[in-house]
Amino acid sequence: MITIIGSGKVGGDAALFSALKKLDDQILLLDVAKGLPQGEAMDINHMLSEQGIDVEVKGSNDFADMKGSNIVVVVAGSGRKPGMTRMDLLKINASVVKSVVENIKKYADNSIIIPVTNPLDPMAFVTYKTSGFERSRVFGMGGMLDLSRFKQFIHEATGYSRNSINALVIGEHGENMLPLPRFSSISGIPLSTILPKEKLDELVLNTKQVAAKVIELKGATVHAPGNAISAIVESIVRDKKQVIPIATYLDGEYGHSDVTIGVPAVIGKKGVEKIIELDLNDEEQKVFDKGIESVKNAISGIEI
Ligand code: 2OP
Repeated sequence: MITIIGSGKVGGDAALFSALKKLDDQILLLDVAKGLPQGEAMDINHMLSEQGIDVEVKGSNDFADMKGSNIVVVVAGSGRKPGMTRMDLLKINASVVKSVVENIKKYADNSIIIPVTNPLDPMAFVTYKTSGFERSRVFGMGGMLDLSRFKQFIHEATGYSRNSINALVIGEHGENMLPLPRFSSISGIPLSTILPKEKLDELVLNTKQVAAKVIELKGATVHAPGNAISAIVESIVRDKKQVIPIATYLDGEYGHSDVTIGVPAVIGKKGVEKIIELDLNDEEQKVFDKGIESVKNAISGIEI
């Protein structure tokens, strides 16, 4: 069973995409709000029914219902409102995430946890520390979402098929996000040979800022995060060993320890099966380190 805790728009979309991809026979939407997960589950089941897809989505307010889940996605907490940074949510969401993770420990202690709540990297740290799970079983969704935006900007700039575009974004899922043109390509052809440096700089900046723009326009980001969650879940349940940037606890990798941030990793049925260390240049490492500083600063202010 896949459990999604938090059944607002992103949680609902994650359930929808996971059901359409048939990632499990059973998907549970959990939320403290009475009626919301039940209504969302009904709505998705009606759609699945017409499509003839035999995945059952259930809505519940009872954490005990997640018993036996092998994957738990945590989307619970407040979302970013127009004008807010992800970090503005730190204090509000840390206590929500902690109490949710206590429940995961109680009812699904063999599961893989995917935190999604913002600010993502500090919340992934809180999840990892509170759970006491090995680090391979706790990793946050941020980079996968960021790279979907980078891909779209590359697509718009070149007009080439999205299918030919490989893009990588690591670092903080926040102000110090690190889109990596040097590690992105069009079917293996380095981006730098296709687009001039000024254009690449523009795409990097747009990738960092576009979530705020979407939030300003429609109030929230929904489909891209919902899809990114389902892509990570798919790599786990199908043991695809896809290389995906996820927010994982570092223990010496990239020159840092005791902090959680986005790096590329091999994702399979055991969760993070390998962390891939890139040879960053000075400029890239500087942004990465700034992200680390920002996350460390945030987690130093949270009681865990
Ligand atoms: C996003 O990037 C707000 O972190 C959320 O869509």
